[in-house]
Amino acid sequence: MNILVLGSGGREHAIVWKLSQSKKITGIFAAPGNAGTSAFGTNLPLDPEDFEAVKKAVLDHKIKMVVVGPEAPLVAGIHDFFLSDSDLKGIPVIGPDKSAARLEGSKDFAKSFLVRHNIPTASYRSFSKSNSDQALTFLKSLRPPYVIKADGLAAGKGVIILDDLEAAFQEVKSMLDGKFGSAGQKVVIEQFLKGVELSVFIITDGHSYKLLPEAKDYKRIGAGDTGLNTGGMGAVSPVPFADKHFMDKVISRIIDPTMKGLSEDEITYKGFIFFGLINVDGDPYVIEYNARLGDPESEAIIPRIKSDLFDLIEGVAEGNLETKEIETDNRFVTSVMIASGGYPGSYEKGKVISGLDNTDECVIFHAGTKLSGEGVITSGGRVLAVSSWGETMQEALDGSYRNARRISFEKMYFRPDIGFDLKKK
Ligand code: AMP
Ligand code: GLY
Repeated sequence: MNILVLGSGGREHAIVWKLSQSKKITGIFAAPGNAGTSAFGTNLPLDPEDFEAVKKAVLDHKIKMVVVGPEAPLVAGIHDFFLSDSDLKGIPVIGPDKSAARLEGSKDFAKSFLVRHNIPTASYRSFSKSNSDQALTFLKSLRPPYVIKADGLAAGKGVIILDDLEAAFQEVKSMLDGKFGSAGQKVVIEQFLKGVELSVFIITDGHSYKLLPEAKDYKRIGAGDTGLNTGGMGAVSPVPFADKHFMDKVISRIIDPTMKGLSEDEITYKGFIFFGLINVDGDPYVIEYNARLGDPESEAIIPRIKSDLFDLIEGVAEGNLETKEIETDNRFVTSVMIASGGYPGSYEKGKVISGLDNTDECVIFHAGTKLSGEGVITSGGRVLAVSSWGETMQEALDGSYRNARRISFEKMYFRPDIGFDLKKK
């Protein structure tokens, strides 16, 4: 079967890498892909949000299944587009339809879903222009810091946390005034939760689900969780505090009620659900849902899946996921992200990357790379994710860092302390 993976990051390279190990797949296409995905198949230079272009590629290349990496095409309704097109409707799209993708596409929808189904989350209220005057009263009822979120997708920049009440109210007003365009037509203000974050993933066919390995992501650019937020600078899986006791709470308080809630709300969710959780004194709370896998979490969790990922995906498409088995590798996988100097601010592209052939006992997932006449060059802020296995977290980290140091390009940067907070003191 020919399969198409939409997206161009490290997550998509990890999906392509894993699917390429399946005997049931004959051809892999990535759109637009990167230099890493091109080693496993064919990159198609198209925008995943241009559904007509996706349709043409699917028909031209006799693609029989589509796996959607990022959230934007899901929230824009790519699944619905396939279902409503007579040429495409028999081709499964792995990823939720537009209604189900609201779990990520609208924070107001996600919060009301959480509250309606009694799933632990920070208390909140939503505001629009018509009731913005009440936002100040609500802010005053909370203790700082204040968490302010644009309702819609805002390229990962829509969450602002501020200590000052007046600044928080100004932020609400500027979001409602269009700071993030239509994503800010509604604004969610919520209680600040203090704890350690955890990324939990399931794959579901709408009836049953399989739990995938969990991970911890390091979002800040600087060592010790300092500096600006990024897309994620590294990940560790498994996460030591997510032991059986904690994960039992995650399943009984969060995952099962989410599945039941979707069913009660008559939402059929097919694809991955990413539960962004926070551990508050041993109790899990939902910070957010995402309608996809995480990046860089995928670069740590996918190498821990021993089963055929295509078999699981086929279970989603055919609605028989319940009959499938998932086996995971007990070893640690750590992933260290190599970024362009200056990221997440401005940075240069087009730097020639050397040392990629000089690595061992790791897998290098490409993110912002492309092929040029000079070889592999940088084309984004996050460039490469170096994933290594180990019996211990430290052994995996040693592998990731040893190999990261063998790679070079002008002004490259990586965080030196991935996993620092999970190590036994
Ligand atoms: P989100 O885009 O919803 O993932 O939010 C981005 C980041 O903001 C999260 O990863 C958390 O670090 C932080 N955050 C969001 N909501 C809260 C909250 N209620 N309490 C504390 N931190 C939060
Ligand atoms: N690593 C966080 C995300 O993918 O949203």
